[in-house]
Amino acid sequence: MAVGSAVGLGNIWKFPYIAGENGGGLFVFVYLICIFLIGLPIFIGELYLGQQGQSNIVDSFKVLDRKKSPWRIIGILGILSAVGILSFYSVVGGWILNYLLIALKFGFESQSEQQISSVLESLFASPQRQIILHFIFMFLTFIIVMRGIGQGIEKASKILMPLFFFLLIGLLIYSFSLKGFGESFQFLFSLNSKKMTVHGFLEAVGHSFFTLSLGMGAIMTYGSYLDKKTNLIKTAFYIGLADTVIALVAGLVIFAIVFTFGLKPEAGPQLMFETLPMLFSKVSGGPIIAIAFFGLVLFAALTSAVSLLQVVVAYFEERFHKSNAYATTICSLVIFLVGVLSALSTNVLSEFYIFKKLTFFDFLDNLSSHYLLPIGGLLISLFFGWKIELNKIKEIFSTSKLAKHYFFILIWSTRVLAPLAITILIIRSTI
Ligand code: PHE
Repeated sequence: MAVGSAVGLGNIWKFPYIAGENGGGLFVFVYLICIFLIGLPIFIGELYLGQQGQSNIVDSFKVLDRKKSPWRIIGILGILSAVGILSFYSVVGGWILNYLLIALKFGFESQSEQQISSVLESLFASPQRQIILHFIFMFLTFIIVMRGIGQGIEKASKILMPLFFFLLIGLLIYSFSLKGFGESFQFLFSLNSKKMTVHGFLEAVGHSFFTLSLGMGAIMTYGSYLDKKTNLIKTAFYIGLADTVIALVAGLVIFAIVFTFGLKPEAGPQLMFETLPMLFSKVSGGPIIAIAFFGLVLFAALTSAVSLLQVVVAYFEERFHKSNAYATTICSLVIFLVGVLSALSTNVLSEFYIFKKLTFFDFLDNLSSHYLLPIGGLLISLFFGWKIELNKIKEIFSTSKLAKHYFFILIWSTRVLAPLAITILIIRSTI
């Protein structure tokens, strides 16, 4: 299920649009370095802490450290991040649902570019529709968590995630024939972009956390379900690779469409919704591909949402001694209500700025990716690097040669590199 948590809207929706806003190549390069040098070590650390702690993200620190451990703050921060992220993630999940419903009616067939871009505009303008779709997405997440993950959803993932991957590869192959493909490749992989700012660096670090579900305990919670024999290094590498390849392929396809049809790479959160339907409206078999695509993205988004809700429910259930059904209902309801403010951010509350021209939606998105997840990651990384005995960490590396080489990176990244890089970037971008 960790791959289900990692692969989601972060890969298909968020990565392409923030790469576009930050000028492409250099941003992508920094992001890739962050995944390898900071993200993967923290991923392994979180898996390890969860596997050893065997409890919810707050109480695990009691097991790993001591009863009144100050490190429990990591768990509290994680729960706040999970509530914040899921509340706006579910709103975007609702957008995907909207597109799936249109696709099911073959609604993108032979539509003009204007007609396609007006779909999102009219959704944004309607508070009712936004709230209803957000409700449905949150309700689906609630049902899955209530029924207990591990059974149906786990089996479905084994088929649907590879299917999603092959569909993306199919789209990539098709996009080779678009005249904008060369430019798309250039845009994402050539290093001479001029747009990158300090803030862009922080965005790259923050996104490496977001896309791997790090810094807030989702991966730790997953680790707590693993038995002590699971090979953590292999799991982390496999997920990091799958997650990165999916994001890059999505980016290549989306920018090929952008450059073929003369759209703007810096379109923002609309990017995927304005580009892909355009492709589906033109290719043969487009209506069926559109249904498969939005259906699979919805599934990927749901598995990520489930992992976010699970973090909150696991804590709430144990802390307040409540039944799973009660905990899941209350947590889902609270998250839904917070999310309503994000659903209204594109219409009724679009002029209501929380901070520096940021609507509630943008504020939560920025707060979590730029601050909460990196700070959570920083603390997890310090705890793992300095509080866990080196010999114990060495044990998990005794499995393969590749792992032995990576040991050095893991230790120095979690001890020094990750904490330092995160601190400098946060300080530099706030002053
Ligand atoms: N990693 C998920 C994605 O890429 C989002 C997520 C973030 C899920 C944090 C869980 C925790 O869409």
